[in-house]
Amino acid sequence: MRKKIKKIYLDYSASTPIDKKVLSAMLPYFNNKFGNASSVHGFGQEALKAVDESRQKIAQFFNCSFQEIIFTSGATEANNLAIFGLIKALKRKNSKSKLHVITSSIEHQAVLEPFNALKEQGVEVTILPVKSNGVVDIEEFKRAVKDNTVFVSLMYVNNEVGSVQPICEIGKLIQKINEIRFKKWQKIEKEIRGDKPLMIYFHTDATQAINFFNCDVKHLHVDLLSFSGHKIYGPKGVGALFVKTGVLLDAIQLGGHHENNKRSGTLNVPGIVGLAKAIELFDKKIIEKSNKKIAKLRQLLVEKIIKIIPNTILNTDINQSAPNFAHFSFLRVEGEAILILLDLAGIAVSTGSACASNNLKASSVLLAMGIKEEIAHSSIRFTLGKQTTEAEIKQVIAILPPIIEKLQNMAPQ
Ligand SMILES: Cc1ncc(COP(=O)(O)O)c(C=O)c1O
Repeated sequence: MRKKIKKIYLDYSASTPIDKKVLSAMLPYFNNKFGNASSVHGFGQEALKAVDESRQKIAQFFNCSFQEIIFTSGATEANNLAIFGLIKALKRKNSKSKLHVITSSIEHQAVLEPFNALKEQGVEVTILPVKSNGVVDIEEFKRAVKDNTVFVSLMYVNNEVGSVQPICEIGKLIQKINEIRFKKWQKIEKEIRGDKPLMIYFHTDATQAINFFNCDVKHLHVDLLSFSGHKIYGPKGVGALFVKTGVLLDAIQLGGHHENNKRSGTLNVPGIVGLAKAIELFDKKIIEKSNKKIAKLRQLLVEKIIKIIPNTILNTDINQSAPNFAHFSFLRVEGEAILILLDLAGIAVSTGSACASNNLKASSVLLAMGIKEEIAHSSIRFTLGKQTTEAEIKQVIAILPPIIEKLQNMAPQ
């Protein structure tokens, strides 16, 4: 009889398994406590209480206030709401000004596509390049800012190579620019100075950062922040957007006026309870220990793969990345072929972001990092998680080299 292979999951940045404690916190809200949080009766009030408590826990984690958290269906929706909602409100207020917005070339499609749509609507868009390690250059950012810049969206951790952006530094810079704009405006005589000057609002997509980095919104100096449940051992189909008090944001989907008129739609009570439970489980000490373990296992994987497989290119900058990412290119082989052979051997990895991995175009993130198209096609992303073990990494180290050798031998010279 054929021995059943034990599956190894190394695609934690695509999705994480739900934590048992999160699942048990959610279960009552599917049946016994199924009420609609907008209903006035007892069932509704019970659901609303759970939503309120969840919102409070999440606000505490991000060091913001209760009403600054808006629940959404995930990070895609949170990003869309941040971008379109803010620009819609700014256009309404400043109908005469041509607005300028900035993002980077390595953002998730849930940011890049809304920015492309803004461009079609006549908004001036700057897409910042990145350095070869996938990190935005602060000097490039400074050069990109113009008098009419009103919005900047930069992701905290990239979802393909794991590069970490200098969010806190850029947040502080934006704050300074806003202070200068305000002081300049104050110096103009009261009678002629008109409305307050345009300010820059700063958004970060922190979806891949929550597990590893400080997401205190005051420390980061951000006005808006998106995240998602299923990347943090919580449920799929739920996420949230932090919106700082005072930031203008129009609803982009209309209906029942939920979430303080900012996001219509019946609240996903079990999902919200699960999201808050996942956040509540972020005990600083346990996380630090788990992250150290993940970083050590990544180190083992990277060192051995580079040593054993000739001409391996490591696309993740170990010194400026989330500790769970290891993104490699192997010359003369297709990433998809590696993925399929690894899958047959019971190892789940990815060639790029989960959403883009059924798309055979070379990754725009790798191309933006200056990686040649042919090399970009030869890549594989490993992302480790809480449950990853040393035995699993050793198994990958044993299985991957013969797969690459076999594929390289089959490839035309
Ligand atoms: C950085 C980043 N932003 C946004 C998303 C989309 O999140 P969701 O699946 O919650 O819509 C993802 C998921 O791959 C991501 O990695």
